[in-house]
Amino acid sequence: MENMNKRYLQLNDRIRIMKIKDIAIIFILLLFAAVISCQVVTGQQLQRRGIITPGSLWLDNNRNTIQAHGGGIILVGSTYYWFGEDRAQGLDPLYKYVGCYSSEDLVHWTFLSKIKFAAPKGFDPHHWVLERPKVYYNRKTKKYVMYFHLDDARYKAAEIGIAVSNDVDSGYQFVKHFRPFGMESRDIGQFIDDDGTAYLIFESRPTHGFVIARLSDDYMSVEKKMCLVKEPLEGGALVHYKGLYYVIGSHLTGWNPNSNVYATAKKVSGPWSPFKNMAPSETNTYGSQSTMLLKVTGTKKATVIYMGDIWKPAAQWDSRYLWMPLKIGKGKLWLPKPEPWEINIKTGFVKFANK
Ligand code: GAL
Repeated sequence: MENMNKRYLQLNDRIRIMKIKDIAIIFILLLFAAVISCQVVTGQQLQRRGIITPGSLWLDNNRNTIQAHGGGIILVGSTYYWFGEDRAQGLDPLYKYVGCYSSEDLVHWTFLSKIKFAAPKGFDPHHWVLERPKVYYNRKTKKYVMYFHLDDARYKAAEIGIAVSNDVDSGYQFVKHFRPFGMESRDIGQFIDDDGTAYLIFESRPTHGFVIARLSDDYMSVEKKMCLVKEPLEGGALVHYKGLYYVIGSHLTGWNPNSNVYATAKKVSGPWSPFKNMAPSETNTYGSQSTMLLKVTGTKKATVIYMGDIWKPAAQWDSRYLWMPLKIGKGKLWLPKPEPWEINIKTGFVKFANK
């Protein structure tokens, strides 16, 4: 009897210890989940306070992740429009979609539409590529003209596609596709100079460089080759800041990040200075690839924002955006270490949330 009692007590003890262990494990797991959810919430909470957190989830007004990868931005009146590749899950694979959003402050984005394109004639509808869409608004014709990199799945066609619409977010009609000046064209970039002249940047692999080309008055064609920047780069972007042109681009490593570089010139047509790193090389541009340089000209200051993509090749829908105000001037351009920041769109001043 005594033995049985002992065993019973021992069993009881063991159960108690197991319970304590279980509770401890559950507690640690809960703590871990809380820490993680806090981090997720923080990026979104900051967004609600008007702060951009580079690399964090960025939600639109419907609380969906913004789908505008490899994107471009235009300012029409006081509204910014952001276009880019919509790589959301569950889209009809027979179409390509361009995400279109609007904002008054560059932080809060209203979803406008998924602009849907079918493969142009001659392209396999199951295996074609529409990348890096860029939309220009032509004030004379009052039309929105969209350029994109059009390709087959093996990236051999290397063309540009153009679509046009009377409205910013719908009704785009496919117009034509071609190789500009007969040259292969892959990644494209968009640049509108202070005098309103519109340029397209396109990477042309066989020439080991990228071309800066002026668009025609109606933006419907690539009219004049301004220069060939002799450096094998893609993700090309350009900005005009205090009398100098700054061009940036990434090396040719596909979806993998590398150390993006910049050069300067007094004229769009060059000559361009040698290229230099725009961030510590070991950071690989903090895991991002350039897509655009956006200049916000405020009443007090012009701020240049680096727009980069943090690609996730195996989960493209979850690719992130790395936007940061650049240190720029006197021929130098530098991407500071990413941290939360905010911009006053009116004055152009930037504040860092942690300072
Ligand atoms: C990158 C390019 C992207 C996409 C990708 C495909 O180099 O910048 O836009 O084309 O290659 O591998």
